[in-house]
Amino acid sequence: MTVDSTAETTTTIDRYGVMGYPVSHSRSPVIHRLFALQTGEPLQYELLQVSPEKLEVAVRQFQRTGGKGLNITVPHKSEVTRLVDQMSERAATAGAVNTLVFKGGEVHGDNTDGIGLLRDLAVNLGLTLQDANILVLGAGGATRGIIGPLLEMQPASLRIANRSLEKAQTLADHFSRSGPVSACQFSVVPVDKPYDLIINATSAGLKGEAPPYPSAAVSEATFCYDLSYGLKPTPFSVWARDAGALQSVMGWGMLVEQAAESFKLWRGVRPETGPVLKQMSITA
Ligand code: ATR
Repeated sequence: MTVDSTAETTTTIDRYGVMGYPVSHSRSPVIHRLFALQTGEPLQYELLQVSPEKLEVAVRQFQRTGGKGLNITVPHKSEVTRLVDQMSERAATAGAVNTLVFKGGEVHGDNTDGIGLLRDLAVNLGLTLQDANILVLGAGGATRGIIGPLLEMQPASLRIANRSLEKAQTLADHFSRSGPVSACQFSVVPVDKPYDLIINATSAGLKGEAPPYPSAAVSEATFCYDLSYGLKPTPFSVWARDAGALQSVMGWGMLVEQAAESFKLWRGVRPETGPVLKQMSITA
């Protein structure tokens, strides 16, 4: 269901929602309704399709009519930072906000994507990131959001590979004081050491495109993770399997984990994510 964000509604039950454009594909309403059932927290969660030029009006209106919090998704995560009064450190580092909390007349902005990815990798999938060699494909907003949290896990190396070098180099320079991060193009990814983890953070799959990812970077010990997800295997996960990866996983777990962190910011309780992943008939 798509709710018309221009309609003024006031209800007694606490209201939350996700704003994006387009947003009809979003699984967030299902996830948050399952969290609400599990924790007994009374809330409603709406799907809010908002075009970029209406973002500010829609956020202000949601707040004015008593809304308690929002998830912000593509393409608004960077733009919405302008509307935030108090920004968390991790959101400032990512340059992007995926969670708004309306408190005391102020807009608080946070970003739970990075912690969501780490929870999925380290807790659900049991990966050790300390001393790992990590390759991140892509150098857009999604990459910017995960580099800081990944470096906090103290990997041996983190290489950002991108179609065009410039964006990868800018990100590597930005994070160079936080850890051993470097940049290169897809075509020249060094393969002298095997990668323990390859993360796809490009938006190529969303557009049905399959770029020439560096197959030589995959060994039989390489774990491949796609930030994108779908009911069918994504182009990257098919590529990873064909390239001989140890395992190839889509980002369903990250989706549910970042949602749980948002829920905790809003309600003060962190739902259990395992049952929700199962109830969505998804294998993590
Ligand atoms: P997001 O904010 O979702 O990360 P973005 O800022 O548009 O989106 O970044 C998209 C990333 O996917 C970029 O790294 C982009 O590569 P370029 O910087 O070279 O444009 C990458 N990307 C998108 N489509 C691609 C394709 N077909 N092949 C390779 N990389 C692609």
